[in-house]
Amino acid sequence: MQPSSTTSSDSNPEFEALLNFLNRNRGFDFTGYKRSSLTRRIQKRMQMIHVESFGDYIDYLEVHPEEFIRLFDTILINVTNFFRDSSAWDHIAQEVIPAILATKRHPSDPIRVWSAGCSTGEEAYTIAILLAEALGADQYRERVKIYASDVDEEALNQARQATYSYRESSSVPPDLLEKYFERTDHHVTFRKDLRRSVIFGRHDLVQDAPISRIDLLICRNVLMYFNAETQSRILTRFHFALHDTGFLFLGKAEMLFTNSNLFVPVDLKRRVFSRVPRITLRDRLMLMNHSNSMDGNSDRLTKHVRFREAAFDASPLAQVVVDANGFVVLSSERARNLLGLSSKDINRPLSDLEIAYKIPDLRSGIEQVNAERRPLTLREIAWITSSGDVRTLEVLVSPVMDTINGGVLLGSSITFTDISRYKQLQDELEHSNQELETAYEELQSTNEELETINEELQSTNEELQTINDELRRRTEELNQVNGFLESILASMRGGVVVVDNDLRVQVWNRRAEDLWGLRSNEVQDKNFLNLDIGLPVAQLRSVIRTSANGESELESITLDAVNRRGKNIKCKVTCSPLYGANNDIRGVILLMEEI
Ligand SMILES: C[S@@+](CC[C@H](N)C(=O)[O-])C[C@H]1O[C@@H](n2cnc3c(N)ncnc32)[C@H](O)[C@@H]1O
Repeated sequence: MQPSSTTSSDSNPEFEALLNFLNRNRGFDFTGYKRSSLTRRIQKRMQMIHVESFGDYIDYLEVHPEEFIRLFDTILINVTNFFRDSSAWDHIAQEVIPAILATKRHPSDPIRVWSAGCSTGEEAYTIAILLAEALGADQYRERVKIYASDVDEEALNQARQATYSYRESSSVPPDLLEKYFERTDHHVTFRKDLRRSVIFGRHDLVQDAPISRIDLLICRNVLMYFNAETQSRILTRFHFALHDTGFLFLGKAEMLFTNSNLFVPVDLKRRVFSRVPRITLRDRLMLMNHSNSMDGNSDRLTKHVRFREAAFDASPLAQVVVDANGFVVLSSERARNLLGLSSKDINRPLSDLEIAYKIPDLRSGIEQVNAERRPLTLREIAWITSSGDVRTLEVLVSPVMDTINGGVLLGSSITFTDISRYKQLQDELEHSNQELETAYEELQSTNEELETINEELQSTNEELQTINDELRRRTEELNQVNGFLESILASMRGGVVVVDNDLRVQVWNRRAEDLWGLRSNEVQDKNFLNLDIGLPVAQLRSVIRTSANGESELESITLDAVNRRGKNIKCKVTCSPLYGANNDIRGVILLMEEI
């Protein structure tokens, strides 16, 4: 059954109501999960129980509370494996673990790992094995704590057992399987002495506070189930959870586009990221102090100003200098061309010139610079030239000080930089960046979507495998029972024939073949009364009918017959009804004996 179109979840109030219902009743908040996958999973469950709309499903859940467990089981895909994406784990063993150990000052410092969304535990035991390999069992036992969490209690219970079938453990390299697992019949169990360092607990990444001071945070194939906003919230918590030198290890379809300022890739291909340390105010002040002391700028500034006075007019910059009273003292040629000034404007009050009107913030800017003795930039000023072109200017107003005479304010210098081209490029770049980002995000989303579908398929595959195993087991049992029945039939001294209610032959044992010279496959499904054998079968019609009607339990008749070898014999035929499981008559059993 396909669910009707009313089940589409896009801003569907019925779907929202269902999510609220799940949250209210079971504390599961699925609103941050990607809608496409979430809808598919819920619909899958609804199809199984023939419920068509989300509204009906709420009613169903109210009446059948056990359905919650099946629904959560369907939504929370538990697909996982030991050493899943093995090349990424090689990188963890060869690069990341040594880097973590190198950050430890003392050889006994603890090493803390968090496997978030650990499912049935394979991931947590994989990192346990790698740490035990790197540290040796004794150090591992003393220093390592692996917190493994999931929202799915059922998966956690399995994880706590630390016991896996041979199929489930087949991706553990044989030497490590031998070293870290104990074998029992059909199963392997992770070594108890190392198991103690792995602590399992229920933790909802959407709602619960993070674990802290983590060196390695493994969260693989979980984020991809969430929408961008929820991913971002979780990543902020992960940033908090990690040590400054900590690493984040994601699944192969997960890229970290959201909150990329919190983490930087260490190895993008293997999805290993390091935490960007938080810069404190103190760090910033120290940086500023450091750059000031390196500057020595007052001397350089003086030389610079003197040099400018000499080369002013030839300067490629559009620059105007006004004195402390606001009169224009100098203007470079470039400024005159750009701003439509002339040499007659020298010694005029700036406030009388066109630029003072066209750039309304200019006069107040100069006043501010004079008062504070600090440069000021007026950004992105639109300027229309005499030829009608629209240009974008950046206007820098700087105080001009007489440093030789005790820092008296002489006036201010105003530099006009035409940033039109830069602005245009910047706009274009921003636009392309946005497009690129959108394309990346779409790509990423598609990638994650594909991965979730992949996991869903794997999960269905696992279910099918279980059904297959069960069918195989049943078939084996049936074969055994069949073999047993066949050997009983073969061992009987008389010919045994079983016919159904239409008198079609269903069973024809070996002795019947011997008596009448026809093989079982030659008579199968043929009407017994039409068979051409040495037995006058027509004479059996009424006896068989009596049994088939249940009028008699045992009915015998002796007939003259000719056997397969052409010998005349006397044959006793005993008929009895064949009863089914419900005591209904399914046919007749005929026992034929030569007497
Ligand atoms: C596909 S498995 C990934 C298992 C393992 N990390 C791996 O990559 O092999 C996703 C796991 O995320 C868990 N999960 C889903 N939502 C969660 C949440 N809100 N908080 C914690 N775990 C969650 C599911 O229960 C499931 O076990």
